Amino acid sequence: MKEFENKVVLITGSAEGIGKTIAEVFAENGANLVLTDISSNIESVASKIAVDFGIKTLGIIQNVSSEEDCKKAIDETIKKFGQIDVLINNAGITRDGLSIKMKEKDFEDVISVNLKGPFLMCKHAFIHMSSKRYGKIINISSVVGQTGQAGQANYSASKAGLIGLTKSLAREFSKRNINVNAIAPGFITTKMTEKLEEKVKESIISQIPLNRFGSPADVANVALFLASDKSSYITGQVISVNGGLYM
Ligand SMILES: NC(=O)c1ccc[n+]([C@@H]2O[C@H](COP(=O)([O-])OP(=O)(O)OC[C@H]3O[C@@H](n4cnc5c(N)ncnc54)[C@H](O)[C@@H]3O)[C@@H](O)[C@H]2O)c1
Repeated sequence: MKEFENKVVLITGSAEGIGKTIAEVFAENGANLVLTDISSNIESVASKIAVDFGIKTLGIIQNVSSEEDCKKAIDETIKKFGQIDVLINNAGITRDGLSIKMKEKDFEDVISVNLKGPFLMCKHAFIHMSSKRYGKIINISSVVGQTGQAGQANYSASKAGLIGLTKSLAREFSKRNINVNAIAPGFITTKMTEKLEEKVKESIISQIPLNRFGSPADVANVALFLASDKSSYITGQVISVNGGLYM
């Protein structure tokens, strides 16, 4: 029997990038998946993963910054599968710029998706995990939430806030046997980092002890560990997956 058979895993922002790879890694391990994204591609991504891996999936179009959408995503999960065992808050956006030029909307949008979204998803997932006295929540933060980053005041504030949210919820949810942890990836090869200029990429790589960007699978494998019972005594932690960029 595969490790995640009979488990239901919901992953936000899973139409592409890290979220999609996390979905594939859990599918390989037998989980049934609820995949959500603001992009309408999510339904075809979910159908393809179901066929490729022989598991059950549900694709939901969702904006994580809307409470109504978050509640609906959790309700639909329970309606189809009757349970939610693992929640991975992965959806995230950037709206980079120097602070003095940053528009209020660019600040608010990033906080809304990257920080309020995970809060709303946790809030609505809690009741179901709580009644089963079982749950694993994994929030995808970022190395820049630990170090700060020029040009990313909004993004790094949202990711630092997500670490605070993770630790607070770990304390609140612990009595119900729900583990809450964060992963802080460094620079991972996805559409988000493709936007960087070649010169900037070279300069970043020169600061990474392992001398390369990470892959989405590097993050997905840690998510798999944090969702498994091998990590049952780990909660409120931030696991860095950054090639040594920040120690
Ligand atoms: N790529 C990196 O180097 C890196 C580093 C550190 C942290 N992260 C974090 O990892 C996560 C995934 O990043 P990625 O590189 O795969 O990005 P990506 O842009 O490739 O994928 C993000 C996904 O989130 C979806 N999304 C955006 N807004 C949404 C919303 N409001 N509601 C629901 N879905 C929404 C997008 O449609 C997309 O499918 C993000 O939280 C990001 O901040 C990425």
